[in-house]
Amino acid sequence: MNTQMTNDVLTQWDHDHFFHPSTHLGQFARREMGNRIIQKAKGVHITDREGQTHLDAFAGLYCVNVGYGRPEIAEAIAAQAHELAYYHSYVGHGTEASITLSRMIAERAPEGMNHVYYGMSGSDANETNIKLVWYYNNVLGRPQKKKIISRWRGYHGSGLVTGSLTGLELFHKKFDLPLDHVIHTEAPYYYRRSDRDMDEAAFTADCAAKLEAMILAEGPDTIAAFIGEPVLGTGGIVPPPAGYWAAIQAVLAKYDILLIADEVVTGFGRLGSMMGSDHYGMKPDLITIAKGLTSAYAPLSGSIVSDRMWEVLERGTDEFGPLGHGWTYSAHPIGAAAGVANLKLLDSLDLVSNAGEIGAYLNAAMADALGDYAYVGEIRGEGMLCAVELVRDRDDRVFFDAADKVGPQVVAAMHARGVIARAMPQGDILGFAPPFCLTREQADEVVGATKAAVIEVLG
Ligand SMILES: Cc1ncc(COP(=O)(O)O)c(C=O)c1O
Repeated sequence: MNTQMTNDVLTQWDHDHFFHPSTHLGQFARREMGNRIIQKAKGVHITDREGQTHLDAFAGLYCVNVGYGRPEIAEAIAAQAHELAYYHSYVGHGTEASITLSRMIAERAPEGMNHVYYGMSGSDANETNIKLVWYYNNVLGRPQKKKIISRWRGYHGSGLVTGSLTGLELFHKKFDLPLDHVIHTEAPYYYRRSDRDMDEAAFTADCAAKLEAMILAEGPDTIAAFIGEPVLGTGGIVPPPAGYWAAIQAVLAKYDILLIADEVVTGFGRLGSMMGSDHYGMKPDLITIAKGLTSAYAPLSGSIVSDRMWEVLERGTDEFGPLGHGWTYSAHPIGAAAGVANLKLLDSLDLVSNAGEIGAYLNAAMADALGDYAYVGEIRGEGMLCAVELVRDRDDRVFFDAADKVGPQVVAAMHARGVIARAMPQGDILGFAPPFCLTREQADEVVGATKAAVIEVLG
């Protein structure tokens, strides 16, 4: 096969027909930006059709947690497709895979969370969550308690409600979002606090105080739920300040407001603990799961429901009839089979511990290599998550102009050195979220490429 010819044809078709998500459509159509056709992957490496291989230090979109090319998952998917590619899960139908996976998730979820509703993406799982919250309050006879509080810089998807929950301007602009019912409070982002004299404890107290003030201003009987990622992800990879979740939960409990922990990134090991909620002592009413549930070998997401909510949902169907909420692909057998194989692999290879250990090594090595560098404002992380925030002036904490695209330039320079990092969408923040099977040597390679690229771009 003439691969070059085929690549040219594919590239033509790509520019002519493929509507890519999160892409500058004009630049892509005019070919001011190139395409990249990925062909295969193994472990932490992906290879494109030009034959270039890169170390993927962002695990796709922080989702290929067990690493690429695992035959155990591929074979489970193939076996499921041969035996039963599809059947629905409405009115009590299931498969061995979907029932087993539900049991496995309940065993790994925080105590008192025992039921799972399935979807295909983090976005649709959060849509489900908001519907369940509204249903719950309707069953309890408080139809006015419907508003959802999210955080600036939170990321919860890009649907209508979920794009509203997302607290990043890019996801609202020209889409008429956020919708009513969604309001945003302070991001728990200590490095970017407005009052630089505030210590971490005071900042945490301030976040909780601002939340309480918002609840009181809106009316506590109008606020249904608070949604947050245990660690802010797309908003900049920002672990919470000390004591944050305890302080927030105290406020929520005071006003009978539900907590939704969006664990699309943190669920199933990324923080070095099975669930981020347990990692931070969160006691959510709903948990959103997706990416790490199947390590993205097949699309599958879920909402884990607490027993406290479940009891009300059951009561609701007794009163109002079957729940009018379902997707054709809920608990798709192929996704469920991938999920079962993926969770087994996490255990058998002890990958959650590896995420904790190698993640700590990666963070420490990054701090050693770049911590004193003039244009590095902060290096932060938790488990197998790490971020390097670049600034124009470190002492006065002056940020670069977004138009200078410093983050994207550094990421491009890293790419040229064989390592993929992510330029986070808001701020000049380099994001790292490698597969959990990363080795120390590979972590050193990531750090080496980061340092060289930062120096190349910023001097
Ligand atoms: C925390 C979080 N929630 C929800 C989503 C949305 O998931 P999806 O892209 O599968 O719709 C993402 C995606 O990155 C995420 O990081």
